[in-house]
Amino acid sequence: MDFKMEFEKRKNVAEEIIKSYLPKEEGLQKTVLSAMNYSVNVGGKRLRPIFMLETYKMFRGNPNLRTYKAFMAAQECIHTYSLIHDDLPAMDNDEFRRGQKTTHVVYGEAMAILAGDALLNYAFELASSTCDYNEGNDKEILEALKILSKKAGIYGMVGGQVVDVETEGKDNDLETLDFIYRLKTSALLESSMMIGATLAGASSEDISKIEQIARKIGIAFQIQDDILDIEGTEEFGKPIGSDEKNGKVTMASKLGIDSAKKEVESLTNEAIEILDSFKEDHEFLKELLKVLVNRKK
Ligand code: IPE
Ligand code: IPE
Ligand code: MG
Ligand code: MG
Ligand code: MG
Repeated sequence: MDFKMEFEKRKNVAEEIIKSYLPKEEGLQKTVLSAMNYSVNVGGKRLRPIFMLETYKMFRGNPNLRTYKAFMAAQECIHTYSLIHDDLPAMDNDEFRRGQKTTHVVYGEAMAILAGDALLNYAFELASSTCDYNEGNDKEILEALKILSKKAGIYGMVGGQVVDVETEGKDNDLETLDFIYRLKTSALLESSMMIGATLAGASSEDISKIEQIARKIGIAFQIQDDILDIEGTEEFGKPIGSDEKNGKVTMASKLGIDSAKKEVESLTNEAIEILDSFKEDHEFLKELLKVLVNRKK
C-alpha cells in the first residue's frame, strides 16, 4: 500500500466534509464565526474524522448516507475547541498551533473562549440535526450523541484537562498520568471510533473492543506528543518545550525518551492485536496505527 497517498486521499475527503459543514461568516456575530473557521481551517491531521470514517467503513456502514459526515465534522469541531481552550493563557499559554498563530493570539482571548464555546455547541447542532435527514437510523444517532457528549465532558476530555492543569508542577505517578491521558486524549479518539462503529450498526461487543483499541492508541498518541514536545522539529507545528515551561511532568519526562518510545510501541502493538481479531477489512487502519508510532507532527 502506498500509505502516504492513501492517507492524503482520506484527509482530503475529511477536509471536504468538514468544510461543507462550517458556518457562513455573516451577521453581527461574524467575528466569532471567523474565529471558528480560522481555527478549523488552519490545518491539522484530521485524524479523528479519519478514524471515524475508517471504522464506519470497516463495519460496512452505508456510504450513501449523510449522517456519518455530520458526525465527522462535529468531532473535528469538538477537537478544535479543545485545542483553542488548551492554548489559552490560563491553560498552556501557547502561541503556535498547526504551524500558525493560535486563536487567542489572532482574535483575542475573549473571542477565543467564545469560539471554543461556539464550536462545542455547533458540534451538537450538526450531530443532532442528522435526525432531520430521515435516514432511518434514529436509534444509532441517539447512541452516537450519547458517546459524543460523554467522551467530550467531565468523564472524558474535560475531566482529563482538569487533572492535567491541577497537577502542574507536581510529580505525578504513572497511575495519575494514565488517568489524565485516557481522559484528555483517548476519550476523543474513543468517541471517533465508537461513533463510526455505532452508526454502522456494530454490535455492543464489537463497539467495546473498538473502545479498547482507541484507548490504547490515545495514550500512545499522547506519549508521542510529549516526546515531540521535547525533541520535535518545526514540522510539529507547535512550540517545543511547552510542557517544561508549564512545569508538566509527562510520560516522556518521567520514563525518559527511550522508555517512552518503547511504551508507544507496545501500546500500539496491543491495539493492533485487538484490531487483528476482527475479520472485517482493516488494512488501512492497521497501517495508520503503525505509522503514528513514528510520527513527527
Ligand atoms: C493534538 O492533537 C492534541 C493532542 C491530543 C496531543 P492532534 O495532534 O491530532 O492535532 P491536529 O488536529 O493534528 O492539529
Ligand atoms: C492536551 O494535551 C490535549 C487536549 C485535550 C487538547 P497537550 O496540551 O499536550 O496538547 P498540545 O500539545 O497542546 O496539542
Ligand atoms: Mg494541555
Ligand atoms: Mg497544550
Ligand atoms: Mg502536547
